[in-house]
Amino acid sequence: MEIISEDVKFILGNCLEVLKTIDKNSVELIYLDPPFDSNRIYTLSSDSDVGFIDKWDDNDYEEFIKKVIELCLPVLKTDGTLFFHISADRMFIPEKILRENFSNIQPIFWKRCRSKNNVKNKLGATIDIIFKCSNSKKPIFNLVYQSKDEKYLKNSYNHSDERGNYALGHIVTEPLKKGYMYEFEFNSVVYNPKSGWRIKKEELQSLKDDNRLHIPKTKGSKLYKKIYLSENPGKPCTDLWDDIHSLAQGKELRKYPTAKPESLLERIIEIGSGEGGVVLDPMCGSGTTGKACKKLGRKCIMIDQNEEVLEIIKERLM
Ligand SMILES: C[S@@+](CC[C@H](N)C(=O)[O-])C[C@H]1O[C@@H](n2cnc3c(N)ncnc32)[C@H](O)[C@@H]1O
Repeated sequence: MEIISEDVKFILGNCLEVLKTIDKNSVELIYLDPPFDSNRIYTLSSDSDVGFIDKWDDNDYEEFIKKVIELCLPVLKTDGTLFFHISADRMFIPEKILRENFSNIQPIFWKRCRSKNNVKNKLGATIDIIFKCSNSKKPIFNLVYQSKDEKYLKNSYNHSDERGNYALGHIVTEPLKKGYMYEFEFNSVVYNPKSGWRIKKEELQSLKDDNRLHIPKTKGSKLYKKIYLSENPGKPCTDLWDDIHSLAQGKELRKYPTAKPESLLERIIEIGSGEGGVVLDPMCGSGTTGKACKKLGRKCIMIDQNEEVLEIIKERLM
C-alpha cells in the first residue's frame, strides 16, 4: 500500500482481490469509474502509451462488473452510496446489475461535452450516466447547489437597491388556494390579498423591518419579497449536470486518457459523504477522487491495477 498523504491511500492491484481486504461496513461513498466496454485501447497521446485496454470477450465484461458490485456491497456502510459512472451507450449492462443489488437507483445525466461537429450519420454522444445507488431509505445526502443559468439570472434579478440586485419572490397565495388571512399596512397602503398570504404576519413584518419588501409601482399590484442575488446559493442540484465540463473543454491538464474533472468528483463526494468520511475508488486511474477528497476533507482509499498511475497520483496529490 502507498500512503499518498495522511488521509489518502493507494493500493496497486486487481480490485477483485483488493476489495476483499477492505473493512466491512466502513465506507460512506464508492465511486466506480470502470472501463466502459468501449472496445478501445486508451493511450494518453500519440507520444505516450500511458493508459489501459478496454477490450473484453463475450460475457466477461458483465461478469467483471457483477463481481465488482458484489465485492463493493459489504464494504459500503448501510447508509452509504455507490456512484457508478458509465457512458450512455453502454449503460444497459451495469444498470441491470445495479438494479439487482440496490433498492434505490437514480440516474444522473452528465453532459460531459458540447455537440460534436464530426458526426454525420448519427446523433453526437454527449452524455455519461452516473447511477446513484443505495440500499437505505435515508442514505447520507447533502444538498448541493448548481449555478443558475446566466440568461435566467439577468432576466430575474433585474431590480436593485442599496444591497444590490434582487428578484421578486412570491408572498401572496395563488388564486384557488387559501393562505394566511390578514391585513397588512405598508407605505400607507393596506394590502389584503383575496386568497391570503403565503407567510405568517410576523414573518412579513420582519421582511418589512429589514427593508426586504418590494414596493409595487402600479397601484393595486401585489407585494413581493426581495431575493438578493448575493444571497442566492444557486439552484438545488438536479439530475442533469450540464455545468461541469470535460477536461478537453476546461483548464485542467489531462494526465490520464479517461481522467474525469475534479469538479465532477467534488460534487459527487459532497453529495454522498460527510467531512472525515471514507470514500473508496476501486478503479481510480489518475486519482481524481483522491484529489477531490483531499480538498474536501474526506479520507480516501484508491485502487488500480495499472502501475503507471502511481507516479501520476503522487504528482497530483503529494
Ligand atoms: C475509466 S479509468 C478511471 C479514470 C479515473 N476516474 C480518473 O479520473 O483518472 C478506469 C481504470 O480502471 C482500471 N482497472 C481496470 N480493471 C481493473 C481492475 N480489475 N482492478 C483495478 N483497476 C482496474 C484501469 O487501469 C483504469 O485506470
